[in-house]
Amino acid sequence: MKIAIASDHAGLEMKDFIGEVLKQKKIDVLDLGTNDTASVDYPLFADKVAEAILAHQADLGVLVCGTGIGISIRANRHKGIRAALLYSDEVAEMVKRHNNANVIVFGGRTMAKDEVAKRIDIFLNTEFEGGRHQKRIDMLDM
Ligand code: RB5
Repeated sequence: MKIAIASDHAGLEMKDFIGEVLKQKKIDVLDLGTNDTASVDYPLFADKVAEAILAHQADLGVLVCGTGIGISIRANRHKGIRAALLYSDEVAEMVKRHNNANVIVFGGRTMAKDEVAKRIDIFLNTEFEGGRHQKRIDMLDM
């Protein structure tokens, strides 16, 4: 599995932490930046991950900004992208089961590293249920 990761400056530290967590799981990581603390515009990094997913260069994306909100909004403007903010453990499970999210999002300034690591585990270890949920997912891009 290959996972594309990106963040703005506010998500940089969390993005780098997530990259290490994924590498420890022997997952291939495609780091699309940012890679320093200079202020950058989060929509550009949402676009990089969305484009990598849509071009099949990665199986899943991870995005981080300060709250996770702005970068989610932008990612979800790409048809075919289902970006979900994992704001609780329950949500980490449900966005795989029901929404089959292909981008998971975290808040670098609003979440703790241990909760982010736990939610990544939950998401990766949960299966999409398909069936009626696939029909609803198909409707998202109509
Ligand atoms: C950057 O200061 C901040 O606005 C951004 O990271 C994010 O939280 C926007 O939604």
